[in-house]
Amino acid sequence: MLSSGGGRVFAWLCVCVFVSSITLGASEWFKPFNVSYDHRALILDGHRRFLISAGIHYPRSTPEMWPDLIAKTKEGGADVIETYVFWNGHEPVRGQYNFEGRYDLVKFAKLVASNGLYFFLRIGPYACAEWNFGGFPVWLRDIPGIEFRTNNEPFKEEMKRFVSKVVDLMREEMLFSWQGGPIILLQIENEYGNIESSYGNGGKEYIKWAANMALSLGAGVPWVMCRQTDAPYDIIDTCNAYYCDGFKPNSHNKPTFWTENWDGWYAQWGESLPHRPVEDLAFAVARFFQRGGSLQNYYMYYGGTNFGRTAGGPLQITSYDYDAPIDEYGLLNEPKWGHLKDLHAALKLCEPALVAADSPTYIKLGPKQEAHVYQADVHTEGLNLSLSQISGKCSAFLANIDEHKAATVTFHGQTYIIPPWSVSILPDCRNTVFNTAKVGAQTSVKLVGSDLLPSAFILLPAQQLVHRNGISNISKSWMTRKEPMNIWSKSNFTAEDIWEHLNVTKDQSDYLWYSTRIYVSDGDVLFWKENLAHPKLTIDSVRDILRVFVNGQLIGTFVGNWVKVVQTLQLQPGYNNLTLLTQTVGLQNYGAFIEKDGAGIRGTVKITGFENGHVDLSKSLWTYQVGLQGEFLKFYNEENENAEWVELTPGAPPSTFTWYKTYFDVPGGNDPVALDFESMGKGQVWVNGHHIGRYWTRVSPKSGCERVCDYRGAYDSDKCTTNCGKPTQTLYHVPRSWLKASNNFLVILEETGGNPFGISVKLHSASIVCAQVTESHHPPLQKLVNASLIGQEVSSNDMIPEMQLRCRAGHIISSITFASFGTPKGSCQSFSRGNCHAPSSTSIVSKVCLGKRSCSIKISSAVFEDDPCPDVAKTLSVEARCASPSTNGSFQL
Ligand SMILES: *[C@@H]1O[C@H](CO)[C@@H](O)[C@H](O)[C@H]1NC(C)=O
Ligand SMILES: *[C@@H]1O[C@H](CO)[C@@H](O)[C@H](O)[C@H]1NC(C)=O
Ligand SMILES: *[C@@H]1O[C@H](CO)[C@@H](O)[C@H](O)[C@H]1NC(C)=O
Ligand SMILES: *[C@@H]1O[C@H](CO)[C@@H](O)[C@H](O)[C@H]1NC(C)=O
Ligand SMILES: *[C@@H]1O[C@H](CO)[C@@H](O)[C@H](O)[C@H]1NC(C)=O
Ligand SMILES: *[C@@H]1O[C@H](CO)[C@@H](O)[C@H](O)[C@H]1NC(C)=O
Ligand SMILES: *[C@@H]1O[C@H](CO)[C@@H](O)[C@H](O)[C@H]1NC(C)=O
Ligand SMILES: *[C@@H]1O[C@H](CO)[C@@H](O)[C@H](O)[C@H]1NC(C)=O
Repeated sequence: MLSSGGGRVFAWLCVCVFVSSITLGASEWFKPFNVSYDHRALILDGHRRFLISAGIHYPRSTPEMWPDLIAKTKEGGADVIETYVFWNGHEPVRGQYNFEGRYDLVKFAKLVASNGLYFFLRIGPYACAEWNFGGFPVWLRDIPGIEFRTNNEPFKEEMKRFVSKVVDLMREEMLFSWQGGPIILLQIENEYGNIESSYGNGGKEYIKWAANMALSLGAGVPWVMCRQTDAPYDIIDTCNAYYCDGFKPNSHNKPTFWTENWDGWYAQWGESLPHRPVEDLAFAVARFFQRGGSLQNYYMYYGGTNFGRTAGGPLQITSYDYDAPIDEYGLLNEPKWGHLKDLHAALKLCEPALVAADSPTYIKLGPKQEAHVYQADVHTEGLNLSLSQISGKCSAFLANIDEHKAATVTFHGQTYIIPPWSVSILPDCRNTVFNTAKVGAQTSVKLVGSDLLPSAFILLPAQQLVHRNGISNISKSWMTRKEPMNIWSKSNFTAEDIWEHLNVTKDQSDYLWYSTRIYVSDGDVLFWKENLAHPKLTIDSVRDILRVFVNGQLIGTFVGNWVKVVQTLQLQPGYNNLTLLTQTVGLQNYGAFIEKDGAGIRGTVKITGFENGHVDLSKSLWTYQVGLQGEFLKFYNEENENAEWVELTPGAPPSTFTWYKTYFDVPGGNDPVALDFESMGKGQVWVNGHHIGRYWTRVSPKSGCERVCDYRGAYDSDKCTTNCGKPTQTLYHVPRSWLKASNNFLVILEETGGNPFGISVKLHSASIVCAQVTESHHPPLQKLVNASLIGQEVSSNDMIPEMQLRCRAGHIISSITFASFGTPKGSCQSFSRGNCHAPSSTSIVSKVCLGKRSCSIKISSAVFEDDPCPDVAKTLSVEARCASPSTNGSFQL
């Protein structure tokens, strides 16, 4: 609780200790500086630093999106941007490197630097990351004698070649800190500790080799290994988890780092969507710093999109939104982004004490309550601290880990009330400037197309942009083309064996056709008739999808990760064509021995129930065909003349394995664009030749979302799910830079039968923003941080809480739909007035906010002319609409 100190000046705000991050010197970005570490923290240019890092994977957005994402990350209070390196994107063919477009790692690193942020590069080269094959190129499987991630010479040779390639590229581009670049930290391997025991002694040898190899590259900045309790020598072992406050590295000389704070979670096709409450996330971060941590990285700060066929497996969806602070479309995920921003500002105010103290002092405050106090230790040795840093700094964290009850505690002679499962942050060991459970940041409800508010929908018939209520679809005119559901080219071949899927496709396509003939005698037919039985196709095990065709008809589909197949067949006398289609939906990205996992069919394939017993098809003559005709003829290229499209009749019955194309328009502006594929089945989609990704309207189980999402208590990914009983994903992000104003060329491959006439374009055209701030809320933290940066004094007036509302760029506050200063009830979209209400609420808020992109209002009776209820703690609740002013001056809403 903030004590009203009547004009008191807060001493802790007056000293500037922040190492200036942008100093023009030898390079464009930073004055060259060395990075080292001690048991407490990274040491940048001789100064210990407490660092907030934010994960953004560059290929999961477009280079056109990067500047905005990085700017929003910086504004959110991050010091560092972190990414994996995606080997299979950078080396699609052995020896042929790709560092262009979405894989332009150098450009990304330079953008990070030019924003004054540091860069943490996790080279791996194994990434996991719900990314196809965990980032390994599929050709790596074919290197003779190779075994991944163990003491295997061919693997080590390839790994060293790629890691060296990346380190050398960074050095050539002057991207290391000692060259004036942003890179302060590197990672070798990734969560190897999870699987190390599967490799026995080879695993132990491999990890030593990996450490030595990394250190031998002369990168000149520290290396980490995450989840690696036996990380050798100078390699810092780090924590990846939902909570890491109990983590200790394997040596007293190494600092405590959290390389993956899972602030959300991923989803697979057919699952509901996970969410992590920001109160719990902020609690986890504050606890980490409270208990001695010094570098924390959000996994993910921006998740993005698995474009093309980059999604991993099993069955990772195209969206990688991750419930991250910045959503898939690059919009702020509120209140997560805003609450973390406040948390980061509060932590920054503690940095002087955090860097000065060698370790916190622990004080037990109650059975489930504890304080950790950071105080300058004048005896700190071996560090280059300025006098101001060690003089009289004190910061404290007060935690209540009780999951149910608030606690009243006494600390340094004062009383504090701490909500359940929360941490209060006291940068001066006296005033609570932030509590992790008290969210004052605005919430924001994004209106996507017709969701929630039909009038926010923008309609897009083929050629003109119409604005009206209701539903319209992307196009009234579609062309179609059937995909041959069988062998389609001279590239087919035959073999007397069932070969593993990846061995044949080399992942050039999701699809592999296997075709054979089965002879049925009159005796078999009689046998089935007499026994009232049918023959059955059985396969020991398949992944990810198997489709069974008999005489050209699709008769069965099996989905799963190595599932058994039993399919009843209706066969005719004489020869029958049996065609099996195996499909991958993202290659395995996690686990030991992933190079051996493969895909498609495993074990025997047979038909049981013939007159003479079963027929083993494993050694039959099979004809193989990789991929679909339309993929290889590139139907998604507009210039393609080979497709022989025909007009699609509205109301035509759903058709399997069919291509569709049309043209569509999108309105100008910056509002993010999505295609709504709810009317479709499963397939892939391209816009103007760009592969948007796989789509699939696979529905999640109906149950699982019933639990009330309570932030209190340990989080797991099943705790706060949404979207039960609905398709996991229906909206597919099409980046603005891939679109034109009109005549965008859309091509779809549909596998199971959908209605393209039902496809629509949806814009994130408007949003509702809400905020609720009480008189006892924390002070406007960013102002305090700014004041401390310039050594300015802060008055008690500056400590009055503020409500801040903000629309995204290009949007303004177009209406105030609710405002009440007093004792309002409810939450966003269901606010109502309480007994106490200042009559001027709406007019004051309107006057300050309407027509502006952002506004702030002090939570004080003085602002609302009269105190509507003296002696009662008051709250200001506001709900507002954000919209883009349309070109002709009126709103789109
Ligand atoms: C970094 O450390 C190296 C080796 O100790 C030293 O030669 C170099 O001058 C240092 N660079 C800076 C910028 O401090
Ligand atoms: C300590 O810091 C001061 C000021 O930043 C610098 O001039 C000096 O060279 C540093 N000393 C060492 C030993 O790093
Ligand atoms: C399959 O391959 C054979 C041998 O190359 C060829 O004769 C046949 O035409 C091919 N089938 C198709 C449908 O192209
Ligand atoms: C992989 O393909 C080759 C032919 O290219 C074949 O000889 C081998 O048996 C296949 N292996 C598996 C496991 O399918
Ligand atoms: C099986 O496929 C062959 C070649 O495509 C075709 O000529 C034949 O009619 C098919 N047989 C049946 C029973 O559909
Ligand atoms: C437009 O899409 C909706 C929603 O998918 C669908 O119900 C409707 O039939 C479509 N309209 C036409 C003309 O196909
Ligand atoms: C804090 O300083 C930054 C950078 O100078 C500025 O952009 C921002 O508006 C300031 N914020 C407040 C609340 O004063
Ligand atoms: C202005 O825009 C609105 C909404 O987009 C539209 O209804 C109206 O007809 C437009 N007026 C003019 C003069 O173009």
